[in-house]
Amino acid sequence: FSPALVDSFHRRHDYLRISLTERCNLRCFYCMPSEGVELSPAHHILTDDEIIRLANLFVRSGVTKIRLTGGEPTVRKGLDGIIRRLNELRPFGLESIGMTTNGIALHRRLPLYIESGLTHLNLSLDTLDPFKFEIMTRRPGHDAVLRSLDTAIHSQGLRSVKLNVVVVKGLNDSEVLDFVKLTADKNISVRFIEFMPFTGNKWDKAKMVPSSQLLDIISKEYPSITRAPDELNDTARSWKIPGYAGSLGFISSMSDHFCSSCNRLRLTADGQIKVCLFDAKEVSLRDEMRRGASDGELLNVIGRAVQGKQEKHAGMEDIDVITNRPMILIGGIQPRK
Ligand code: GTP
Ligand code: 5AD
Ligand code: SF4
Repeated sequence: FSPALVDSFHRRHDYLRISLTERCNLRCFYCMPSEGVELSPAHHILTDDEIIRLANLFVRSGVTKIRLTGGEPTVRKGLDGIIRRLNELRPFGLESIGMTTNGIALHRRLPLYIESGLTHLNLSLDTLDPFKFEIMTRRPGHDAVLRSLDTAIHSQGLRSVKLNVVVVKGLNDSEVLDFVKLTADKNISVRFIEFMPFTGNKWDKAKMVPSSQLLDIISKEYPSITRAPDELNDTARSWKIPGYAGSLGFISSMSDHFCSSCNRLRLTADGQIKVCLFDAKEVSLRDEMRRGASDGELLNVIGRAVQGKQEKHAGMEDIDVITNRPMILIGGIQPRK
């Protein structure tokens, strides 16, 4: 394991999230400000070759897990080719290739992605009600996402399918038990995520439902619910209802952050390394590559960024929403002054 990926709090970063695009075919209010976002010019976005070069370097330095994100990763042209080339890194230590997607443009192409090497799928779906879907995402497409979920569940070859549900008070918190019921006969993990603050998403503590509250509601209905083992460095605390095919997870980024076990690094679509979701500091690996840096030089730049990683994020009371850019662009642009 390369020391470049170990920070000053001894956290080993073996999980790399690669954002493939700043674009998205939905407009989820918690992710994208209503006025939209300014996209980086096309030539600022990493090319396939640049992504693969960096992925290769990270894998040889100790990364075992890669997750493709966005924006919406399926919007990127040639996604299957990128997955295929990442898959070629397996002999060097890469164990899994995941993707987090909204499922709008997925169900027909999912078999191709799996055949190319995709192993883990996280699907974002916040509501089972098509009308609410359009309120939350500002776009139609609920039926397409449900089809993708169905295709994913019935696909051979995926090692896990997780459903991400961002819970917002007054919008979809009344559907929690409906989501729990989905796990009765579907072997999926439904994960309830605390609403996090980003610029322009009108975050308000009052709209956030702490995981503990959800667990109370669910336990009343299902007193037999039990804690299940978590995967190493998991963002979610897992629970299970005996006899149910699937499981439940609670991602408490706000009420009980999991920074001390964080093993993640992010590569933004425009080639910046970002060591924490809530830290605006970024270093451009793209610029280094384009000025001709060697792998050794790149690793030094990565190492310095990782050394600068803070112990934990500010937490619910004093998190600085102003410097924290929209989630959609955490894949992208430089912070605006
Ligand atoms: P797994 O590999 O399946 O564990 O995926 P994941 O949960 O890491 O990733 P996913 O893209 O599905 O993100 C789900 C939620 O996890 C997000 O909405 C965030 O709330 C949270 N999350 C992901 N990465 C981070 C991170 O680096 N820091 C914090 N605080 N939360 C994160
Ligand atoms: N709070 C919590 N989760 C968010 N996501 C996007 N914006 C937010 C937010 N403000 C989630 C998406 C997706 C994952 C990558 O991040 O729903 O599942
Ligand atoms: Fe698109 Fe995902 Fe953001 Fe929704 S949360 S706008 S689907 S990137």
